[in-house]
Amino acid sequence: MGLSRLCHLAGDLSLAARAAELAVRLGLTAVALPERKALLPGRHDAVESLQPVLWLDAAGLALQAIEKPLPAPIRVDFSSDAMGWRTRGGGGGEAVVRACGVKAGNAIRVLDATAGLGRDAWLLAHVGADVVCCERSPIIQALLQDGLRRAALDPACAAISARLHLHTGSSLELLRDMAALPVAERPETVYLDPMFPHREKSALVKIDMRLFRDVVGEDPDADALLAAARAVATRRVVVKRPKHAPDLGGVEPHQRMLGQSSRFDLYAPVTG
Ligand SMILES: C[S@@+](CC[C@H](N)C(=O)[O-])C[C@H]1O[C@@H](n2cnc3c(N)ncnc32)[C@H](O)[C@@H]1O
Repeated sequence: MGLSRLCHLAGDLSLAARAAELAVRLGLTAVALPERKALLPGRHDAVESLQPVLWLDAAGLALQAIEKPLPAPIRVDFSSDAMGWRTRGGGGGEAVVRACGVKAGNAIRVLDATAGLGRDAWLLAHVGADVVCCERSPIIQALLQDGLRRAALDPACAAISARLHLHTGSSLELLRDMAALPVAERPETVYLDPMFPHREKSALVKIDMRLFRDVVGEDPDADALLAAARAVATRRVVVKRPKHAPDLGGVEPHQRMLGQSSRFDLYAPVTG
């Protein structure tokens, strides 16, 4: 995809230093801008194309589509009202929490092998799970890391963020390593939420979904993840799918939990 620039608000030395470090790590060009509106098409010489950018300001790191008017930046914000709404009353009623077998007071280990922006992982950790989040896209991983950094500074979120452990790279490799661990050290649940190829016309897909898809692409190895996950989980593997999608890898689950637009397929472990 065409993301090649990390733009940041000019005039703040610590932001400039963070932007420089991130730009080197992600292989992007750092560009200082006087304000976010300078990202608008045609406003600034350094933002000549309509390719999305990473945007860094005092609110954190964000993925920013370049269109007129500027769409809201996509950032990981675990302190947001939306996340607060989902975790009200403890969050134990969330479908992903029930599907993964996470219960308050029962601190199981979960591997979220397709972490993305970490929303599901956060719901699991909120109820008490210890979650390893594996994400292979360096851009998405940087957004998640930034969200966790800010969450650690928020007294209402710090204890939850301490239960999330970020792992960069391919889950297939991580699962291969985990398969060699003693059973007592493996995750009870492995959770998979791979990208699903959507058929809707792009204009009908929400812009944040389109942008996210442009950055991460497809997940052609999703079928292989299922077999690898079943060889590692000690209790269950949970796969999130659009409600009417075919089973991952054509493998029928042992149980299905149907939601409004998606479903959770539960698989038993396969011991070698
Ligand atoms: C649909 S998103 C997951 C959304 C996530 N459940 C959430 O709540 O934000 C899928 C993510 O999994 C990542 N992914 C897919 N296959 C992976 C693999 N084999 N290893 C690591 N990350 C993977 C993709 O890069 C993408 O960011």
